[in-house]
Order: sequence, then C-alpha cells, then structure tokens
Amino acid sequence: MASPYVACRLRLGRRFSLAKNLRKVETPLKRLVGTNVAAVQGEPLGKDKAGVFLTLSLPDARSSRPLHTVQAERLAQAERSVLISCNPRANEKKFLKFLSRHGDISKYFFYESYGVYAVVEFTNRDAVASLLGEAAVPSSSHEAAVPFKSRLLSLKHRGAAESPLQPSEPQSSIPISQLIRRLSEKETIEQQMVSLTEAYQLTEENTRLRFLVSSLLKNIAAAYFPECNVLPFGSSVNGFGKLGCDLDMILDLDGISGRGENKPRSGLSLEYQLKTANSERAATQSILSVIGECVDEFGPGCVGVQKILNARCPLLRFSHQPSGFQCDLTANNRVAVKSTELLYLYGELDPRVRHLVFTVRCWARAHGVTSSIPGAWITNFSLTVMVLFFLQKRSNPVIPTVDHMKELAGPADKCTIEGNDCTFVSDLSRIHLKSNEETLEYLLREFFEFYAAFPFNKMSINIRKGREQNKPEVAPLHIQNPFETSLNVSKNVNATQLDRFVALCQECSWLLEKKGSDAQPAAAAAGPDVAPSPWGLAALLLPTGVAGVKSRKKRRREPASERIKSLLESLKKNSVPEKS
Ligand code: GTP
Ligand code: MG
Repeated sequence: MASPYVACRLRLGRRFSLAKNLRKVETPLKRLVGTNVAAVQGEPLGKDKAGVFLTLSLPDARSSRPLHTVQAERLAQAERSVLISCNPRANEKKFLKFLSRHGDISKYFFYESYGVYAVVEFTNRDAVASLLGEAAVPSSSHEAAVPFKSRLLSLKHRGAAESPLQPSEPQSSIPISQLIRRLSEKETIEQQMVSLTEAYQLTEENTRLRFLVSSLLKNIAAAYFPECNVLPFGSSVNGFGKLGCDLDMILDLDGISGRGENKPRSGLSLEYQLKTANSERAATQSILSVIGECVDEFGPGCVGVQKILNARCPLLRFSHQPSGFQCDLTANNRVAVKSTELLYLYGELDPRVRHLVFTVRCWARAHGVTSSIPGAWITNFSLTVMVLFFLQKRSNPVIPTVDHMKELAGPADKCTIEGNDCTFVSDLSRIHLKSNEETLEYLLREFFEFYAAFPFNKMSINIRKGREQNKPEVAPLHIQNPFETSLNVSKNVNATQLDRFVALCQECSWLLEKKGSDAQPAAAAAGPDVAPSPWGLAALLLPTGVAGVKSRKKRRREPASERIKSLLESLKKNSVPEKS
C-alpha cells in the first residue's frame, strides 16, 4: 500500500518529491480506524495495546477532504458512542459481550483518568438507544440525584474480581525528559522533528474522545436548542494539537437561526416569534449563561464551570472529569472556526508545516515562552502564525499567502463573517507553488535566524500578504489577525516576553549553526549501554535557563555566550534533568 507520504506526492505533484526521507505523519483526525468486535470494512492489520484493530487507511482518497466533512464523520461516530466508567475488576470479554447484546460494536478502547473508562462505538445509534433503555438511575439514601440521562455511564460489577481491564496508553503527552531521551537516540535533526510530532500529536483515541465530549455537551445544550451542534475547533482539529491541549468547542446555532437560508420573495410564509437581545454579543452572553447553569447543575462529569462572559469572545470554561479535558465553549465564534480551517489546510499542504509547528511549539513550551496560564506570553496560536509567516517568506515559499488562497477560491469557498472576508480555497489541488527543497533541519535553523533578526519594533507580521508591514499601532508584537484585519492576535504579549523569545531564537540559531563534534549525534559514539547525551533538537529543549532577559541589542553583539558554551560542555557529560 502506498504510504501517506506517497499519496500526498501523487496528489500534489512535484513539490513533495523533494523531501524523500520526510515522512508525513498522518493526523489522527483523518485516520480511518476501525475496531473489531463485530466486522469492520477493511483488512485488519493487528491489534494495538488499546485493544484497537487498525485497518488499512486510505490517505490518498481521504486526505484532501475538507475539514467540515471530516468533522461531520467524526461527530457521527461520536453520536454512536458511549463513555463508560468501568470497574477495573470487570473482565474485558464479558464486558464486550454484555454490551454487544444491544448491537454490533465497531470500536472500543480503554483509558485511565481517575479510574478506567471505556469508549465504545456501536455501528448504529439504535444500539445506543437500546443500551440507554436498559441503564438504571442510581438511588442513594442520603443524596438526591438529578435525573439527567446522558451517554456517560458507570459499569457496575458485582461478584469476584476477574482478569483486570487494561487501559490503553495515557491520554497525556510524555514528559519532556523522556522526549529528550527519545530524540537523543535519533541520527538526524529531521528524524528528531518527525519523532517529536509522533510523540506529541493527538492520538486516534484522544481525537475520538474529544468528539465524544463535544457530542455529550451537545446533548446538554439541546435541552434548550434541540437543533444545535457542538463542534470542536482550534488545536483539537487543526492538526497542531498536542496530547493534553484544551478542548475548544463552538455552540453552533446556525441550523436554528437559518443563516444562509433563502427567504421566499413573495407569497405567504411563517416566522417564529422570538425574543430579541440588544446585540449579537448580548444574545451570545445570555445563551452561554443559561447553558453554563445547565452544565454546572446537570452536566455529568462537568466541574468547575466558569462563565467568562465579558471576554472579547464570551466563553464557558470547565473541566470534563471523565476525559480530563479542560473545555472552553464559545458561541457565535465563526471567525475562529475559519482560522481553524485555514491552519488545517496549511498543515495538509506540506508535511514540513506540521513538523516545524510541533517543534517550535514544544521548544517554546519547554522554555516558558508559552504557558497554559493566560498572561503576557505568546500563545500557541500566535506562534503558529509566526511559523506560517516564516514559511511564506522563503525565497520559494513553502505555503501560499492567505490572499493567494483567496484568489484560488471557487464559488463554494466564498465566505463573509460579520463583514470580514474569510474566503480561501479549500481544494488543495488548485495550489501550485515553485519547488522548495529545504530540509526540516535547515528550516528550523532559518526559523530561529529569521526571528532573531526580525524588526519587531517597526513591523507587523501579516500572513494575508506574506510580508511584514508597518505596525498600525503600538504593541511589542504585532501579528495581524488574518480575517479580522484590524486586530492584533498577540496584543497580550509584553516587551519582556518578546525579548525572551528573541534572545532564545538567537541562542538556538547559534547552537544549530555550530558544526562540530558536540553538535553531532551522540548515539553512535555512546555505545550500546550508554544513554546518548542530548544533541540537536534534544539539546534545544533542555530546560537550562537559556536566554535570560537581556536587551535585544546586547544579545546580538553576544551570540555565543559563555553560558551556552558551558551548557554544551554539560550536555556532553550529564544526563537529562527532569522537567514535567
Ligand atoms: P492550544 O489550545 O494552545 O493548543 O492552541 P489553540 O490553537 O487551540 O489555541 P486557543 O485554544 O488559544 O484558541 C483556539 C482557536 O481560537 C485557535 O486555534 C484560533 O483558531 C482561535 N484563536 C485563538 N486566539 C485567537 C486570536 O487572538 N484571534 C483570533 N482571531 N482567533 C484566535
Ligand atoms: Mg485550544
């Protein structure tokens, strides 16, 4: 069978024949996976640790599908699925036999999150209805249960313990120290970047769980708005998500509001009588407010609900305990959905995009350039836009500008949201760029060099045009929002954080440029029993306190600090320090 990479080459032509050694790590969002208790289509390849049978995937046929098609398929899977808290003493075979009385199971897996959980997908929704019909409402003598029924269930096991259930791999990414060790064993920086992507990207199971949580939330919101939809967006679906990233969801009421429907021009017609709000924002706030109450009071597994309604984009934030996801639910946030689609397309265009974005995001996190806590840090979204901008700026661009993607758009791609033009081509085969043969290693080094010298004080980053422009307003870092062009996506970033980023870029560019024995793979020299010392990308991820905050001018004069030299010395000798 053709590899995903080969499929990609067939589809997109010449540009991909270059990076022969570069593997396209297929995004789990699109992967076709089936499991089997019952029969699935496709030839089983085997069983992984999660009890999942992988079937042959069809990357060439599926990979150019638009994001919304992939999402619709994922949501349909989610709606045929249930989430069950399992007693670990239960026996897997008996558990499956017990459930399959309701219908054929097409996939299942177990995972651990404050106990063992199972995600079970049936081949049709009738099986789910039958299973829910059999489930009992728990009774307790000293607590009153709110009888809100959902597809989140508990498996009760009475009787002796049997062979325990085996949860699959954890739903969070490996610690950085383990990643550094893994990368140190690789022979090239390119291999390290591919390996990092593989280690950190969302797994098939994690992606399924994200859609299942969205569909559980949709059931809660449907108490008020039966025709609503809840869709994941952001890094859960744009191809750049790391295990453990938050779950951004949008409450989509367009199906109810009839947006885009043609109204009859003559004759009789009926309209619903509705309450009105002062503005669309006020309507969004009141909708999220009542749904927030509902999630808080009745939503099984949803805890710590916060209503953040006065933010630029009002949202509900809560933890979904059974999945372990930190969730953000927004409404009327269609521009963010378009940004997600744009990022997804860029990631699909060339495998180097995802590898570079994953590498830069991981590097930034390891050095505290980004943070999970909101503040003056650069966000992952801004950082991703910076990587895209850099790739547009190559002498033969790796990816096109947003304006170019707009020129290539067909009639079905036309999209205007609140007066903002969000049109861009969705058919990747229409995009033809000059060949760019730069390796991942070269691109990484150039990325650091590019931003080490970028004139942040005067210029704004603009992926619509693919070139820097004079800053329209005073802000340490200005990155134009590609669709709401009057907005700066990095408005929150202060000068201290930008200086740290620049200083780190300078030092890392120097580290990668340094040719010599200490910048080469140590694996070969280390011998079979000795752990290789970190080198290449692994060395760049070391939490060393590299690049303390100094003025950018000063750092430019002093690229190879004494501290870096001693760091390199210590890399030769020491093992990797722990960092969670
Ligand atoms: P992580 O959650 O950090 O992994 O990345 P993310 O891409 O999901 O970012 P985040 O959760 O902060 O935001 C979710 C999505 O909202 C992003 O992917 C963007 O599509 C969009 N978004 C985030 N920040 C901005 C912003 O400042 N402006 C605009 N227009 N969209 C944003
Ligand atoms: Mg997110």
